[in-house]
Amino acid sequence: MNRIKIFNLKKYLNQKAKYVDGLLKKYLPKDKSVVSRAMNYSVLAGGKRLRPLFVMLGAEAAGLKDMKKIEPAICAVEFLHTYSLIHDDLPAMDNDDLRRGKPTSHKKFGESAAILAGDALLTESFNLVAKCSVPPERIVKAIKIFADYSGYKGMIAGQAEDTIEAGKWNKQNVSFCKKKLEFIHIHKTSDLIKASLKLGAVLAGAKENVLNALDKYGHNIGIAFQIADDILDVYADKKLLGKNGSDADNDKLTYLRLYGKEQSETNAKKLIEEAKKSVANFKTNKEILNALADYMITRKF
Ligand code: IPE
Ligand code: IPE
Ligand code: MG
Ligand code: MG
Ligand code: MG
Repeated sequence: MNRIKIFNLKKYLNQKAKYVDGLLKKYLPKDKSVVSRAMNYSVLAGGKRLRPLFVMLGAEAAGLKDMKKIEPAICAVEFLHTYSLIHDDLPAMDNDDLRRGKPTSHKKFGESAAILAGDALLTESFNLVAKCSVPPERIVKAIKIFADYSGYKGMIAGQAEDTIEAGKWNKQNVSFCKKKLEFIHIHKTSDLIKASLKLGAVLAGAKENVLNALDKYGHNIGIAFQIADDILDVYADKKLLGKNGSDADNDKLTYLRLYGKEQSETNAKKLIEEAKKSVANFKTNKEILNALADYMITRKF
């Protein structure tokens, strides 16, 4: 009898998240200063740990077997991601009270500590990349990728357009809004997903063709991930989601608002199919990368 092995994504994700949680505890500060406590609080509040997983998958795509060598980089992306969430929730940004099912950092520790905990996670994330046990030239390349994708031309550019003049865009014509929204999604979300995949790959000494494939994969699943995030902001069970949803209150330009639910879902599916094509020739983890791509838009939180 032919036994068909069905890949269990949920189990896989749980296992990886557990492994990542252990690493995060190892690399988080142990002192009891307010900033250190705030760093621990937000990082350990939960989260799907998808970006650390993307680092591992990027590294495996480039042939790395021993994840110990890049442990700090696996944590670095979660540090940087968590900083972005702490700052994203601030009153001057999205003004949210709940994150990962808990009061946001500024609600718990006050605004000054939340800002500083974000700053500290950001700076420490680069320190972590520098700690990997791989040849120094790979580390230099990795740090550049990480800085470019998270910096003023990357994630911050997306956050700026999303936040600073939110409310202004919706008064423009539809084609302007669609272009603006694509820019926002690519930068605020896709960039860090791409950075994670490529960070792992570069640290593992990836060749250009692997990097290009991961770039395309990350680009498309990243946009789809944010389309789903925009839908979940309105339609999710907020208890499961762990955040309250604030896009409408902040008059945000969102995919849901511009395209409606059905078209948003259709477009997200197309992006996922596109993403799968770019890893179709991969020898390792193809099944996982495909299942993860689907998960970007089928997830409930
Ligand atoms: C939330 O990211 C921020 C976005 C880019 C939409 P996640 O949905 O990955 O948040 P966690 O890490 O699981 O909490
Ligand atoms: C945030 O996008 C993206 C970053 C933090 C870079 P959102 O504002 O939509 O994320 P949530 O919905 O608060 O998690
Ligand atoms: Mg935001
Ligand atoms: Mg937000
Ligand atoms: Mg959102």
